[in-house]
Amino acid sequence: MIRASTRAVGRTEGLVSRSMSSGPAQDLVVIGGGPGGYVAAIRAAQLGMKTTCVEKRGTLGGTCLNVGCIPSKAVLHSSHLYEEATHSFKSHGINLPGGATIDLQQMMRKKDQSVFNLTRGVEESRMRRVIPAKNILIATGSEVSTLPTVPIDDQTIVSSTGVLELSDVPRRMIVIGGGYIGLEMGSVWSRLGTEVTVVEFLDRIVPAMDREIGAQLMRILKKQRLNFKLSTKVVGATKTPVGLRLTVEPSAGGVQEIVEADVVLVSIGRRPYTAGLGLENVGVQVDRRGQVSIDDHFRTSAQGVYAVGDVVRGPMLAHKAEDEGLVAVEIMAGMPGHINYNAIPVVVYTNPEVAMAKTYDSGGDYALGMVKILSDKATDKVLGMHVIGPGAGEMIAEGVLAIETGTTTKEIAKTVHAHPTLSEAFREAAMSAHGKPTNYYKM
Ligand code: NAI
Repeated sequence: MIRASTRAVGRTEGLVSRSMSSGPAQDLVVIGGGPGGYVAAIRAAQLGMKTTCVEKRGTLGGTCLNVGCIPSKAVLHSSHLYEEATHSFKSHGINLPGGATIDLQQMMRKKDQSVFNLTRGVEESRMRRVIPAKNILIATGSEVSTLPTVPIDDQTIVSSTGVLELSDVPRRMIVIGGGYIGLEMGSVWSRLGTEVTVVEFLDRIVPAMDREIGAQLMRILKKQRLNFKLSTKVVGATKTPVGLRLTVEPSAGGVQEIVEADVVLVSIGRRPYTAGLGLENVGVQVDRRGQVSIDDHFRTSAQGVYAVGDVVRGPMLAHKAEDEGLVAVEIMAGMPGHINYNAIPVVVYTNPEVAMAKTYDSGGDYALGMVKILSDKATDKVLGMHVIGPGAGEMIAEGVLAIETGTTTKEIAKTVHAHPTLSEAFREAAMSAHGKPTNYYKM
């Protein structure tokens, strides 16, 4: 839940314009209420700027909270529990006399509840009007990349959104794209009993990661009953009375093959979402990939217009967008600001999780828990840390390191933590030490 003196208003047509208008001038209008936008709006309000956050959804949180990280994490967790119940409990001496069964509707209700809990309570008005502003921050995120030959209908050919809404466990699923979404969602449905085949264009999965790690992950996922077709592309899909028929062929061309499925997930990446903003009206330049061009200070080619998150270069990650939102607003306020793009973690929530931090060229269900940091009032150095909650044994290592190295809470507050993870609470606790948390964690 978000508590700050920002306001969310409904999306207007031709949002970015230089037209004259009535109404109070804002110091900042943030377009988009996802992790990049709402965190930027909160920081702007904390810095005393008159701020309005414009969001077209009825709730804040963007893709991440509404249809991305949070609901994914919820079903990853539920399906993991089912997997444990069916495959691991026995070895721990835990017997379920009748065997574990799935109530998919209940699983989906639980996921929806996680989303609701995190997005409710946001002040919202649906007024449509022109808002004059000194500065504008574009944080409109991204949308699903599509394949013209496999059109998404969110019934049987689904995107990352539809795959979280299936009403039955499909017998067979083809996942197009062996990236983050494909492997996480492929894992979920495979655990629930679906025969999953991942079709990947390249000769390896998670191509953004180290090759050896990717190969090791594929071996583990194969043991978990996932099938893989590497160096393969899908060239067409047809619907039949009993399902879907996909035509696939080697990426380099060659003999075609038909594979059948009940559901197809298209997860081949995402692209910047700027449609309908009217960026051309104010001279905001967009590159050939559709990314808004920015300088090191998040300034676009139009004066007073900034951009952060998935609409600009770099990895499309919630925590990267958050950090950019914070830094962009601080720069607007005349403060120094810099992001170390070499220290942005990525976590794939398969079992086991895979995490990395690497150099980028330009180019849930929250559990009950608490993190408490004790710091020296004079020097700000961390003196102690207490963690109650799942994963506490792992999280404490960060506190130990902070104490060992004389790290300050200000330094921790500047450090990007992967989202969604429990370790974010560590950073939030450090921000709280200075009265500036950006998220509210329900205990
Ligand atoms: P992705 O970029 O991670 O993976 C897409 C995969 O599809 C790549 O392996 C690519 O080689 C393959 N591909 C592309 N075109 C293809 C084709 N025609 N046929 C077969 N394979 C093809 O994209 P994904 O998984 O859709 O995720 C989108 C974004 O969402 C990512 O940029 C990621 O940053 C973000 N995300 C992050 C998560 C996390 O941090 N845990 C979880 C889910 C999404």
